[in-house]
Amino acid sequence: MTTATMRSPRTKLKSKMAPTALVSLVLFCLSNVLITCSGSGGTGAETGIRMKLTHVDAKGSYTAEERVRRAVAASRQRLASMRATSGGGGVSAPVHWATRQYIAEYLVGDPPQRAEALIDTGSDLIWTQSTACLRKVCARQDLPYFNASASGSFAPVPCRDRACAANYRHLCALDGGCTFVASYGAGSVIGFLGTDSFAFQSGGAALAFGCVSFTRLTPGVLHGASGLIGLGRGRLSLVSQTGATRFSYCLTPYFHNDGASSHLLVGAAASLGGGGPVTSMPFVESPKDFPFSTFYYLPLEGITVGDTKLSIPSSAFDLRQVDKGYWAGGVIIDSGSPFTSLAKAAYEPLRDELAGQLNGSLVAPPADSGLALCVTRGDVDRVVPTLVLHFGGGADMALPPGNYWAPVDKSTACMAILEGYEQSIIGNFQQQNMHLLFDVAGGRFSFQTADCSTL
Ligand SMILES: *[C@@H]1O[C@H](CO)[C@@H](O)[C@H](O)[C@H]1NC(C)=O
Ligand SMILES: *[C@@H]1O[C@H](CO)[C@@H](O)[C@H](O)[C@H]1NC(C)=O
Repeated sequence: MTTATMRSPRTKLKSKMAPTALVSLVLFCLSNVLITCSGSGGTGAETGIRMKLTHVDAKGSYTAEERVRRAVAASRQRLASMRATSGGGGVSAPVHWATRQYIAEYLVGDPPQRAEALIDTGSDLIWTQSTACLRKVCARQDLPYFNASASGSFAPVPCRDRACAANYRHLCALDGGCTFVASYGAGSVIGFLGTDSFAFQSGGAALAFGCVSFTRLTPGVLHGASGLIGLGRGRLSLVSQTGATRFSYCLTPYFHNDGASSHLLVGAAASLGGGGPVTSMPFVESPKDFPFSTFYYLPLEGITVGDTKLSIPSSAFDLRQVDKGYWAGGVIIDSGSPFTSLAKAAYEPLRDELAGQLNGSLVAPPADSGLALCVTRGDVDRVVPTLVLHFGGGADMALPPGNYWAPVDKSTACMAILEGYEQSIIGNFQQQNMHLLFDVAGGRFSFQTADCSTL
């Protein structure tokens, strides 16, 4: 992604405003109606925000096989950290995060500074590493750290502000600012909350975000990006802060994408159309307890592979409360997880049924690929059946072989679905070539197959 593709109408608008006016506007937004504030200043509320996404691996010169190995490693790392954080007691972990693979470039501040974020429907906070990072306590990133002192439009968020309290863990700094800790499967980040103007490929907004001064993350999870843009249901996500009632994204394939970009649309511009038929379902209501209130739960009920409907106990996908504030199970759709992972009660029947159907075509998985079922690469389209995810209300999502089998070495391709823990996660590999619409206000999730490079 190059700066040439970035436009920043918001920045121009900003520079005409007196700094004090901007600060009070921002504070007004925060303390009053954070949820519906984006419209002020003609941000992106009418037309919405558009972001161009680049697959992080497209920035390195990785082969298809290397990309799959990276994705397997990342998915495993995430799963391992989920187990670690859930204490092995079978309760779901807090917000999980190991890697994000699609990144967006944006501008923040006045004069604008460049930043790059991984896009995450599985968390809320927007954050970027800042010059407050002491030596070596933050992750390496490709762009310079954000310098809040160099931005005329930056304002710290006071610790008494509602936006500060919206962080699960926060405290008052000595200067009255808001210090937060955000935890993910791959570690935590610590920083202070501020507001500034953001400009995306098109559209922009004044947003509260974390200026990170300390990261303790598994090395490599940022992939050189400077931070994260959370799209979850919580108050500090980009979606909530801009008052967007919906958002959509369409991910170009991991492979054979000729460098085509994917796009994310937040707000009015997000809609389906022009592609295949639209399938739609209600979201499963999220528990109110943070962090479970972040996730987008889908009503997955069953799986068919080839002509066989798998025998999976109906409870396998249920979201259930195990204790006060603890929920287990459920199925979330996550732009941040590379590969889908299924609860054991669903994964085992899938693996066993496919092993039976592919009998004769199966080859040994490459050493330490971490994958269970493999065939010769050239055989995939010939022998691997379509997999159908059945959601509530008769909504079916058909995954062609290319959406759940991936090349792992020169001669071998393997099933890119992993065994997870109690929660099942529909990862971004399984979302390729689909336009997904999250109608947050309407409580519905819709999708259609699409050529994402043309959107
Ligand atoms: C941040 O910006 C301020 C004001 O322009 C400048 O004095 C300072 O050196 C900058 N800090 C870094 C680390 O670049
Ligand atoms: C394949 O099918 C044959 C005959 O039904 C059976 O003996 C063999 O165990 C099967 N192999 C696998 C890998 O399932």
